[in-house]
Amino acid sequence: MMVLTTQSILCTIFGIFISQTLYRILSRLYLHPLRKFPGPILAAITGWYRFYFDIVANGQYIFHIHDLETTYNSRIIRVSHNHLHINDPDFYHEVFKPGTAFHRDPAFYTSLPFSNSVASLTDFHHHSLRRKKLNPAFTPSAVQSSLSTLITNIEDIGETLSRACRDGRPLNIQRLFVYLSVSKRFNFSSPELLLPRETHQPPPPVLLQWIVPGYVRMRKVQGPPPPPASHEPEPLTPANSKYCASNLASIQEGREQAHRDSNPDKRTLCDILLADGAESTSTEDFIDEAVLFMFAGADTTSYALANAVYYLLSSPRVLQTLQRELQGVDAQMRAHDWAAVRRLRYLSAVIDETLRISCPAPGVLPRIVPQGGCVIAGLGFIPGGTTISTSHSSISRNATIFRNPRIYQPERWLSEESNGLDHWKVQFSKGPYACIGMKLAQMEMTMALAYLFNRFELALYETDAESMRVSDWIVAANREPVRVRVVRDAWG
Ligand code: HEM
Repeated sequence: MMVLTTQSILCTIFGIFISQTLYRILSRLYLHPLRKFPGPILAAITGWYRFYFDIVANGQYIFHIHDLETTYNSRIIRVSHNHLHINDPDFYHEVFKPGTAFHRDPAFYTSLPFSNSVASLTDFHHHSLRRKKLNPAFTPSAVQSSLSTLITNIEDIGETLSRACRDGRPLNIQRLFVYLSVSKRFNFSSPELLLPRETHQPPPPVLLQWIVPGYVRMRKVQGPPPPPASHEPEPLTPANSKYCASNLASIQEGREQAHRDSNPDKRTLCDILLADGAESTSTEDFIDEAVLFMFAGADTTSYALANAVYYLLSSPRVLQTLQRELQGVDAQMRAHDWAAVRRLRYLSAVIDETLRISCPAPGVLPRIVPQGGCVIAGLGFIPGGTTISTSHSSISRNATIFRNPRIYQPERWLSEESNGLDHWKVQFSKGPYACIGMKLAQMEMTMALAYLFNRFELALYETDAESMRVSDWIVAANREPVRVRVVRDAWG
């Protein structure tokens, strides 16, 4: 009779594990329907390949994929056992379009640290309901009604720059842009809730500032909210909590005021989420939306604005052209008539070019190929159920769309040959999952850049191409923040 020793049991378990692993490896390499597509063997075998480039190599996965396209001389790369990255502009518009059959990959989106938010919902119907609920905060009139708050924030930043000019000290302008976007975002049309102007202290506890009324009202939340996904999360320090607590009364008052207000454009995101509607908002949904909006709205816009500053200050000819255009509306801007700024064509081209070259959401946004599969011209058949991605950074750097894609050239959006380039303004994505905050972000960028480059003469401070090297943390992040010296204050 066979005696089962501990050793023989362990050996058997180990043997089963090894044979299962071997079977998985061999089937991924030789039996899998994606085996015909080029890509690194390791990527086809194991998810640790992606982990390495995402985590160990600091958000380099998407840029590594672009390198692989050159290595394998292929527009389609097998980047994991069931995932293809496809760099094909026509296919991009097949995936990212209204009524698309390619929906979000649950494995990726539900793993985000705000899995109950609109940005993570993978069920198309559920997502549409949430989107409908949030839409009122982003209608053209709602965005327009937040202009005065935005101007106040921009002028606050202007005061900080003016002081830095007098003191001769450099400053981290990228961080100031976080105040600009965040403080308004979470307090739509509630300027009284902003950080007291005179302090100019580190950012307010934006996350808590927004959700605390929810804590108070719902009285259900247990423990602290999950950490934001941002690369540089605003710390939820005790000092921030204290600030929040001391401002609680005014925050509440602001919300109650907004409730009393008959103008629907005056409601905050908080009000909108808590309103009764077709889709009720649970505590989890509420917190996750707060976490999402904190980074989706702030990190993207501040990154894009910081890139605009970097590229403008590195391109004297472009800067001069912009400044000439801004001089034409100087009188209006000093008189707080901002409507004229919106009509500035070169400024608008600067923003389009900055978004293209900096690409705030550069990475894989995976979608699932619908049942029945799909055929991509010149690339072959892809079976249903495959995860595919076709990233915005592929479009940005595509030389068949953009001549000399590595060069910062706003004129490309204005020239004769730019007819048709609008089709490639894709940085906010397209289709049902496209960015809800696009109009808001565009308004913020337009007003902030017009104000800064009309009023101030700036110079880069300890910021160079190395500082601007990018990591992809769902939202792009440059290695070091953009810092400037304020050389002249024309209004001072
Ligand atoms: C330069 C600025 C911005 C860029 C380039 C940008 C880009 C994007 C992109 C590419 C997506 C699609 C992600 C996907 O397919 O999974 C997205 C989604 C989203 N963005 Fe933005 N964004 C910007 C600013 C903003 C702002 C200012 C807000 C809010 C105040 C915002 C809120 C959102 C939300 C909530 C989603 C998820 C939409 C949904 O799932 O229906 N974004 N953004």
